[in-house]
Amino acid sequence: MQKKPDPCSFVIFGATGDLTHRLVIPALYNLAAGNLLPDKFCVVGIVRRGMSSEQLTDSLMQGLRKFATRPVDEAIAKRLFECVTAIEADPRDPASFDAMSERLDRLEKARETGGNRLFYLATPPSAFLPISEQLGRTGMLEENGAWRRLVVEKPFGTDLASAKALNAALLKLVDEHQIYRIDHYLGKETVQNILVLRFANGMFEPIWNRNHIDHVQITVDEKLGVGHRGSFYDATGALRDMVPNHLFQLLSLVTMEPPARFDAHAVRSEKAEVLSAIQIQTEQEALSNSVRGQYHAGKIGDTEISDYLKTPDVRPDSSTETYAALKLTIDNWRWAGVPFYLRTGKALTSKRTEIAIKFKQAPFAMFRDTAVDRLSQNYLVISTEPTEGIELQFNTKVPGPVINIDGVEMKFRYKDYFKAEPSTGYETLIYDCMIGDNILFQRADSVEAGWQAVQPFLDAWKSAGGRGLQPYKAGSEGPEAANALLTRDGRSWRKLG
Ligand code: BG6
Repeated sequence: MQKKPDPCSFVIFGATGDLTHRLVIPALYNLAAGNLLPDKFCVVGIVRRGMSSEQLTDSLMQGLRKFATRPVDEAIAKRLFECVTAIEADPRDPASFDAMSERLDRLEKARETGGNRLFYLATPPSAFLPISEQLGRTGMLEENGAWRRLVVEKPFGTDLASAKALNAALLKLVDEHQIYRIDHYLGKETVQNILVLRFANGMFEPIWNRNHIDHVQITVDEKLGVGHRGSFYDATGALRDMVPNHLFQLLSLVTMEPPARFDAHAVRSEKAEVLSAIQIQTEQEALSNSVRGQYHAGKIGDTEISDYLKTPDVRPDSSTETYAALKLTIDNWRWAGVPFYLRTGKALTSKRTEIAIKFKQAPFAMFRDTAVDRLSQNYLVISTEPTEGIELQFNTKVPGPVINIDGVEMKFRYKDYFKAEPSTGYETLIYDCMIGDNILFQRADSVEAGWQAVQPFLDAWKSAGGRGLQPYKAGSEGPEAANALLTRDGRSWRKLG
């Protein structure tokens, strides 16, 4: 049985926004349905002037009906929404934070939540610091017998310098143990399962190194285009949006050393260690070890996708990449010489997230004279999209009098073994924030190590401007040039279905 979190207030900045409606409230509902919310609990939505608790509740309720991952039980929803209160506060108006602090104190007495508070910043990144500073100024972040936690969404900075500055500024207001930097990939079952696969089984770890692994491919392909997020995306691009956060989470879990214990300090230290071992490339190396692309009009299934450059709020001459592929190496004893190929993009042929570990060929081709003398490749594939599971590809003999060899697959799919309720992926993360377990959250050092590794690519691409930006058709597998990144090493991307 999972334990219930301590009584607490769940204070959401950006309560009227998309993230709150689409992910946070449905996740709170799922926790309520699983009886995993504290017995004494309140949800406080921070709103702009003039919005009442009733109006906020109505809007959140509509959001739940639209985005719930399972049928909504009216009694559970009613109990959850009875806890919702709207409080006005605006970081540009410090007095509103003094008033908010007083209202929270009163509300907490009535609700008997004991002063524990989780401040969830579901806001644009530019608001992270102004809000935190007001919370700090009014003493709301001080832990005097009760806990105070700050949950920060991505993007955490836009480059190495800004991530460092944000960390330094936040760490003046709160201690590292109070900050929960969310990366929603860590809420996904298969992502958490990487550690279990590696460290709860005796058979993988002995071959999990440069002696047996030829290379690793990490793919996060998306079908959707940029849609209504033009203004955010055009200032961000595929690299910043996905690589130092989501793809590096996958990379660090696959490459970290075994931690001594399964606790936040040990696990996060190993992750930070391996990220800081990614070789820092020169701008010249970064250019030759990367491909960036931008989609133009095409069709995905029956859906017509227009040029990226025609997306609302995108600059008509933008050179922002919607596709990025990189080759990285890790400078340590386990991984020296093993290339890691990463690719991610929008408006591609399929939605697919996978880590494919390619093992070295058998050392001696003794079946040379058989009908099939080219062995197929040994891959271990861990995927979260389109299905969550693990797959092993190996060679086997085709039945018959002669030795014919063919590649086959052994497949494990979560849904075949476990009956899990559909989730938003945020339940685990929100629950962990409430029980104070930060194992699944990014620590300042790994965020900075991630930015440090991508900084040469950002710099090189900035200097190159539109030069080298490869067009690709929406609905394709990405720019042709991404293939050359591997073929020049005698390798190829796994074909995605
Ligand atoms: C978000 C990015 O963090 O992750 C989006 O900002 C992206 O651009 C999304 O679409 C992908 O998440 P998932 O869970 O659908 O792979």
